[in-house]
Amino acid sequence: MSTIHLRDVYYKYQSQLDNEEDINSNLPEALSNINLEIKQGEFVCLLGKNGSGKSTLAKLLNGLALPTSGEVLVDGISTKDESRVYEIRKKVGIVFQNPDDQIISSIVEEDIAFGPENLNLDSAEIEQRVDSALESVSMTQYKYTDPSHLSGGQKQKIAIAGQLALKQEVIVFDEPMSMLDEKDRTDLLSVIKKLNREDKITIILITHNASEAVYSDRVIALQKGTIKYDGPTNAFFGNKEMVLSLGVEIPVANKIAYKLSEHIKGFNEKIITKEDLVSQILNIKR
Ligand SMILES: Nc1ncnc2c1ncn2[C@@H]1O[C@H](COP(=O)(O)OP(=O)(O)O)[C@@H](O)[C@H]1O
Ligand SMILES: [Mg+2]
Repeated sequence: MSTIHLRDVYYKYQSQLDNEEDINSNLPEALSNINLEIKQGEFVCLLGKNGSGKSTLAKLLNGLALPTSGEVLVDGISTKDESRVYEIRKKVGIVFQNPDDQIISSIVEEDIAFGPENLNLDSAEIEQRVDSALESVSMTQYKYTDPSHLSGGQKQKIAIAGQLALKQEVIVFDEPMSMLDEKDRTDLLSVIKKLNREDKITIILITHNASEAVYSDRVIALQKGTIKYDGPTNAFFGNKEMVLSLGVEIPVANKIAYKLSEHIKGFNEKIITKEDLVSQILNIKR
């Protein structure tokens, strides 16, 4: 059971710190005044435009980066506690944007087994974990394939399987869909949804595209390193001014709903899928 707490977190990159003596330069922190609690089983969408601090926040969650001030706690363990960073990494995994950076082996099976092998598990346990991880991402048939022959979306699924084989309780996805085509995106999004709903894995999905928030329960929106919104996904989309002010990509259905709501009294702006939009339009009383 992993609960993540961030308390009064600030983060400055070294180059931002180096510039502090230079009074002409006033580089802001990458993150400031971040207070959050993410509970086991949540599906959170961390949304913000490029440079808003999303990746920095991701790296803080498993100790890849340490806060300049404040604290990040995973199940009460501070990421600053060097002796326990290993425990934290066993709970919280990160899948990055580019699958090519994450795949190291020339056979899918070996690639997924790499992490568990480092945990010194016996070979039967490793094999079982590899098989079940492949099954979770519907990639069993590619067990003996060379990953370089796979599509971007399939490679991303292998990277996810690598995390699943470690039995991570929390998986942070840092813009995992940005390099994929439309079909692979839809496919991967439903895999991520399944991991949350069926395997009860806490999901933190990072994106600059609000349409990827559809399956999340909660949106945390960042702007210039601070939290601009933290609340239910539905209420997020209902807050038109705020959504538009973030500078993120907005689902076409929502753009239409926002426009219609200017002309039709009582039109619900919270819609997040095309289907919701269509059914609302069909319900408009003439
Ligand atoms: N390695 C780095 N050194 C200095 N500044 C950085 C570094 N990485 C990111 N930044 C700065 O920190 C801010 C947040 O970046 P980042 O967390 O990568 O945002 P996002 O993932 O939302 O695009 C930006 O202003 C960015 O320029
Ligand atoms: Mg980023």
